[in-house]
Amino acid sequence: MPDINAGNPVKVEIAVARGDGIGSEIMDAVLHIFDRAGTGLTYRMADMGKAIFEQGFSTGMTPEAKEIIEETGILFKGPMETPKGKGVKSINVTARKVWNTYANKRVFKTLSGVDTLHSRAGIPVDITIVRENIEDTYGGIEHLLTHDVALCRRFITRPGSLQVHRYAFEMARRKGAAKISCGHKANIMKLTDGLFLECFYEVAREYPDLQASDIIVDDLAMKLVTRPDNFEVVVLPNLQGDIISDLCAGLVGGLGFAPSANIGDFVSIFEAVHGTAPDIAGKNMANPTALLLSGIMMLRHLGLSEKAMLIENALLYTLEQGVHTRDFGASPASAVATDKFTEAIISNLGRTPENGKSVSGEPQTRSFRQPEKPASNRILVSPKGGAESIAGVDFFVESEGSPEGLAEIFQKHLPATLRLVTISNRGTQVWPTKSVFTDCINQYRVRVESRDLAPLTQHTCLNYATKIAPDLKICSLEMLMNYGGKQGYSLAQGQ
Ligand code: NAI
Repeated sequence: MPDINAGNPVKVEIAVARGDGIGSEIMDAVLHIFDRAGTGLTYRMADMGKAIFEQGFSTGMTPEAKEIIEETGILFKGPMETPKGKGVKSINVTARKVWNTYANKRVFKTLSGVDTLHSRAGIPVDITIVRENIEDTYGGIEHLLTHDVALCRRFITRPGSLQVHRYAFEMARRKGAAKISCGHKANIMKLTDGLFLECFYEVAREYPDLQASDIIVDDLAMKLVTRPDNFEVVVLPNLQGDIISDLCAGLVGGLGFAPSANIGDFVSIFEAVHGTAPDIAGKNMANPTALLLSGIMMLRHLGLSEKAMLIENALLYTLEQGVHTRDFGASPASAVATDKFTEAIISNLGRTPENGKSVSGEPQTRSFRQPEKPASNRILVSPKGGAESIAGVDFFVESEGSPEGLAEIFQKHLPATLRLVTISNRGTQVWPTKSVFTDCINQYRVRVESRDLAPLTQHTCLNYATKIAPDLKICSLEMLMNYGGKQGYSLAQGQ
């Protein structure tokens, strides 16, 4: 049996927040395993979660907790409850945003002893999903444009996409993966997902050792269910990544086995994907596996890969021996309690699974260095690819009238420099040509462009808006931009 004290324990400080519900039970279990495995970590407790909201801290964390987390650069976090109906934002989302953790990494691996459809079919799963964690619709920028129409802005940015792709490629290389895929919907969202995809291939050029390919997200969902063993690392925009990662959790036995890391340049957060499980809290029934797997990811992030390997093999051996908590579907008589499960893992430190694959890994060479706190906000801007100009403007207006009536209003005020190009409703053109089958709602997009393709000024566009304003409610407007000769806006369906 290998020496469990192998590898120098590195004195690394981490911030720990136990969390709510089952949080303290599973966190105590994991820290107990860490200590017995000789990880050498020092824990600094950070006060976060339900009780802190109730003390009146609207972010769900005390200023001291924030300081500890920023000093250590690592937050190991149990699940937390955000009070409902009090107008406060989710502590989990706040934590990810405050520290700009731009990549969400989730690892989904077949666990020996965990019965799933794919394990029964002999199809192994070892997929890492990297989900962009800040942008997309998760900016939460939403408006009611009319009483009938809600709009959510979806941001995909070049610097944000480059950050997440670079992390994904680096991680894939460290994992020893041969291939990496980008999931997207660029066939429909040509500018937003198109930019995400363009950045993926831009970064791919720096990693010729990795086979890079892309796949439309719906096709990806189908292929993950049928042949998950064809995928190693998949990187996706935020919302698609959210859905696809839960699909992958289902492949390996559910959320109880799903660890996650939120990676930033200064602070990274490690947590299980599941919640506080209030139904079983305080009953010594909770399964600490997902939090333990998140902790194992954290050890690897800290460069403690030998300790990570030691604990992971002990966990795999324990599961393989049929030592399971109740959520595995075991009968109440054969299920073990949280503390017994934890003791079993500790007693198996140094063992490797007999039937399943044991874990090997890189030697403990990397050491973790806490990055310096930035003095002020970083402004991420990429070099400009050419001159930019205004080609026109899209007006989003409220109207219950016909497209033809709307065209008349816009033409009445049109200056000589502009021409009316198209009117669309929910993205489908309804003027100058249309299908009578298009149902219209009370919000149209009216597009005007420069008459002779000469660049426009903001002043021309806004001046025109003031002429329209007395006749119609302008909900919002969007400049139509060209960048280095490239059109920076989509066409209406049918245009
Ligand atoms: P949940 O994940 O807490 O529970 C869903 C079901 O899974 C329950 O039956 C629960 O008993 C079971 N379960 C979850 N984790 C388990 C574990 N480790 N061992 C055994 N069984 C487990 O989801 P739910 O009920 O939707 O949310 C409860 C609370 O957790 C809410 O306040 C929610 O906001 C919060 N939450 C927090 C998260 C976080 O801190 N990252 C993530 C998701 C939810």
